[in-house]
Amino acid sequence: MSNRPLFITLEGIDGCGKSTQADRLEKALIERSWHVTHTFEPGGTALGKRLREILMRDGLLFSAFSEVLLFAADRRQDIDEVIGPALARGTIVVAERFADSSVAYQGVAGGVGEERVRSLMNLVTEGLTPDLTLLLDIDPDVSLARKPHLDRIEQRGSYLRDVRAAYLRIAADEPERWVVIDAARPASEVFEDVLSAVTRRLY
Ligand SMILES: Nc1ncnc2c1ncn2[C@@H]1O[C@H](COP(=O)(O)OP(=O)(O)OP(=O)(O)O)[C@@H](O)[C@H]1O
Ligand SMILES: [Mg+2]
Repeated sequence: MSNRPLFITLEGIDGCGKSTQADRLEKALIERSWHVTHTFEPGGTALGKRLREILMRDGLLFSAFSEVLLFAADRRQDIDEVIGPALARGTIVVAERFADSSVAYQGVAGGVGEERVRSLMNLVTEGLTPDLTLLLDIDPDVSLARKPHLDRIEQRGSYLRDVRAAYLRIAADEPERWVVIDAARPASEVFEDVLSAVTRRLY
């Protein structure tokens, strides 16, 4: 294991259960006496909350690339304000979404270009890469049915099929970092797999 504490990210399409599983993971790790910082994007900081409002609102026009840049600004603020200091203190970080979201959503599914988004993300994160990324994999019809209100991005239904496929391919390309978990099951069953993947890296 590396010298620094674990940086864990949860990825997956809208409504797959990232927030549900991150909450459970945070609690379980605290019960096991680990120090944990839980963050999410867009919106883990004060700037992020404002950016989230802009990004999720209907009716605003963005080009695909400007959307990438707004997410990038949010991510950098989260690194500077939350993730970086937490890792420096020796705290485990559980983040809902990180650079892989931009690669899957805007880079691949949104057509901005995978390599363009990857190189921008390398600049934004200065190479900070999660130690473990959990992909909560689910069919979009199942995940969207869980959510009463759909935001601007979620309304692009078929888009999420492309995002799901992008995630699965990205995960397969880097199997040492990613663990793919079937997220269509009850939350407690999904969590068993989440906790066992994390535990394997911690002890
Ligand atoms: N395994 C599950 N089975 C059924 N419902 C679930 C499951 N996990 C989460 N839910 C419910 O589905 C909805 C979406 O879950 P959650 O908010 O955790 O997803 P998310 O990935 O964080 O979504 P978003 O991308 O919008 O942040 C919530 O109402 C949640 O209670
Ligand atoms: Mg969420």
